[in-house]
Amino acid sequence: MLLQRLQLRDFRNLAQVDFSPSPHATVLVGRNGQGKTNLLEAVYFLCTLKALRAARLVELVRFGQPSARVAGQFALAGATREIAVTIQDGLREASVDGKLVRAVEDYFGGVSVVAFTPDDLAVVKGAPEERRTLLDRAVFNRFPGFLRASRVYLRALRSRNRLLKDGAAADYLRAYDEALAETGARIVALRRELLQELAPRAQAAVASIAQLPDTQYGYRPAHLDVDFAAADVPSLAAALLAALQARLGRDRERGFTSVGPHADDLDIRLQGQPARAYASQGQARALVLAWKIGEIENLRAALGRSPLLLLDDVSSELDPERNTFLMRYLSHSGAQVLLTTTEPSLVRGAAGADTHWLTVADGEVLPASGPPG
Ligand SMILES: Nc1ncnc2c1ncn2[C@@H]1O[C@H](COP(=O)(O)OP(=O)(O)OP(=O)(O)O)[C@@H](O)[C@H]1O
Ligand SMILES: [Mg+2]
Repeated sequence: MLLQRLQLRDFRNLAQVDFSPSPHATVLVGRNGQGKTNLLEAVYFLCTLKALRAARLVELVRFGQPSARVAGQFALAGATREIAVTIQDGLREASVDGKLVRAVEDYFGGVSVVAFTPDDLAVVKGAPEERRTLLDRAVFNRFPGFLRASRVYLRALRSRNRLLKDGAAADYLRAYDEALAETGARIVALRRELLQELAPRAQAAVASIAQLPDTQYGYRPAHLDVDFAAADVPSLAAALLAALQARLGRDRERGFTSVGPHADDLDIRLQGQPARAYASQGQARALVLAWKIGEIENLRAALGRSPLLLLDDVSSELDPERNTFLMRYLSHSGAQVLLTTTEPSLVRGAAGADTHWLTVADGEVLPASGPPG
């Protein structure tokens, strides 16, 4: 997959953007607050229909404008496709080759993207929710069907929590328990499958990034009385249902559901100890870097092609050694990558003869005169 051309209109502070990225590295250079992250956010949104950081879709529309549009021309499996998303009145509308796409799932015809931001670098020591997002983005990239399961799950979860708060009778809750157990089991199984593929790759990457022997990336759902490694989806659902019912009294008191994939964590360990509590700042960053590289390698192995990579100002957050490693990895991987930076010298290692250097200034993207000297 290759992004051949990107066109934006009124996306955040980017009024009008139209450029053709390099098949390899494209570097977007600009000072703070000019629109670099906004540009990556637009590409991420185009590829996933999910916001990279915005809480609400309206935030993505340029102040004072009625709508925003992001369109990309992709080379996908030998064909050229025009994929576009419009945001208007807080809603989004997606099309492929000019035809509206009804079910979001139909949209993901082989477009995959891995984003890497400074926020990611903090997840090892952050809240469980951040690690869940890291994990679930990887699951979704690898298994697009995960999106439907997680949407169905969240809807059932919200309803159950409402009933818990309202003190509804057990009979009312039971219908939701079954729905949660059934979709929850599928979510848990997809996370397990992703970890089986990704953990060995991330662990191998750790070894070349940092001297961290005995690192483990694991996932084990909490409170399930089941042999997790071996259980099939129906057994997982049965275990989840039993846990929901066993914890009903507690859940009623607290007014929310305390067991299920929404409450689980990605378990990263150094020599058997949770990295969240024990890793140093630099080790924690190396662990995320290794996760991302594992994810890229895994997608490449599974899909037979590299995902599109978006790196938002990551170099300034890494120590020189890790940054050099990352830049060398990018330049050898052959992947298409869009990198932003305030300081071009930090990303020079990823650049080659076909690198496009662009300047982002006050919401405009302009060709730079050449690699900064
Ligand atoms: N909906 C919007 N309409 C217009 N401007 C917006 C909108 N949303 C954000 N902005 C503006 O975009 C600018 C920030 O852009 P962005 O986050 O892409 O900066 P950046 O180039 O990544 O900067 P930094 O180097 O600090 O990360 C801010 O000036 C912000 O006010
Ligand atoms: Mg930024």
